[in-house]
Amino acid sequence: MKKINGVIILLLLSVVTFAQQISEKRIREVMKEAYNKYKAPQGGANANYIPYLADVNSNLYGIAVCLPNGKVLELGDTKYEFGIESISKVFVLALAMQERGQKAIEDSIGVNATGMPFNSVLAIELEPARAVNPLVNAGAMATNSFVPAASGAEKWTKIDNIFAKFAGRRLPVIEKLYASETATNQHNRAIAWLLYSYGRFYDNVDVSVDLYTKACSYGTTARDLAVMAGTLANRGVNPLTREKVINSEYCPKILATMLTEGLYDETGDWIYHTGIPGKSGVGGGVIAVSPGKMAIAVFSPPLDKSGNSIKAMYTIKYMVDKLGLNLLEAK
Ligand code: DON
Repeated sequence: MKKINGVIILLLLSVVTFAQQISEKRIREVMKEAYNKYKAPQGGANANYIPYLADVNSNLYGIAVCLPNGKVLELGDTKYEFGIESISKVFVLALAMQERGQKAIEDSIGVNATGMPFNSVLAIELEPARAVNPLVNAGAMATNSFVPAASGAEKWTKIDNIFAKFAGRRLPVIEKLYASETATNQHNRAIAWLLYSYGRFYDNVDVSVDLYTKACSYGTTARDLAVMAGTLANRGVNPLTREKVINSEYCPKILATMLTEGLYDETGDWIYHTGIPGKSGVGGGVIAVSPGKMAIAVFSPPLDKSGNSIKAMYTIKYMVDKLGLNLLEAK
């Protein structure tokens, strides 16, 4: 009798769990609806302060969704390798947190929102924590400098290894993009030296800025980004490879920095409309994470004035709404 009761309870539990999950069919439908709704140009322009990015085809558009079971649903240009740019900041933060611990990030970098543009110097001057948040340029370069390593080469190996674990494949650096950014990153170098002057930089400035620039130049597809973000949605375990990449308790902390700073001075609007953590890059990618449920990655190069992909934001807002992913909604 006890055995039968146990079986019934298990059956009931699996029915409840199943009922909570959104069907793959429904996700595909919503992806298609969003794609058709936004596939025409929606305004904006490619980033042009990094010459390579200005030349990427503005009409490319891809949507990828990664589910905790390792399935990746794709629509449109999901195989095109584009510059990861600021989305890399999330995964370098993951590395620094894994190596240094959460408290050290809070103390040495800061985790508050700036409410300012991604490359703001003013934010550094106004905030006692200086770098303020690992997802703005200042904080990201400081975070890079905070990854412990005996040399730049050793640090790059750590970065390259953890990015490969997040993506489930070794990612290429787009050499032309890396050269283009290196030739035009004077503003970032100024930011890094300013942090250094305030004692908020933790390694050789030139080396750290170079490694930050190199990580921004990774070539990722929308599919890669969905898997990388999917690892954060899945308690630090890559849904494809099943490898544990970071401690599960760091995931909500990393996602919190995305909630407060993921889309820079537009983050408030983003949260108001979606209620889930997101992160953009000037290459045209945006990731969004629905913890335990899925990660969405969208690629479309034209950006708004804050440096966020217009089509990607529209697409994700639409999908979040239709799939009921808003974390602020009582379920
Ligand atoms: O450092 C920069 O300016 C670029 N490598 C990355 C900036 C970026 O992606 C801002 N994102 N929306």
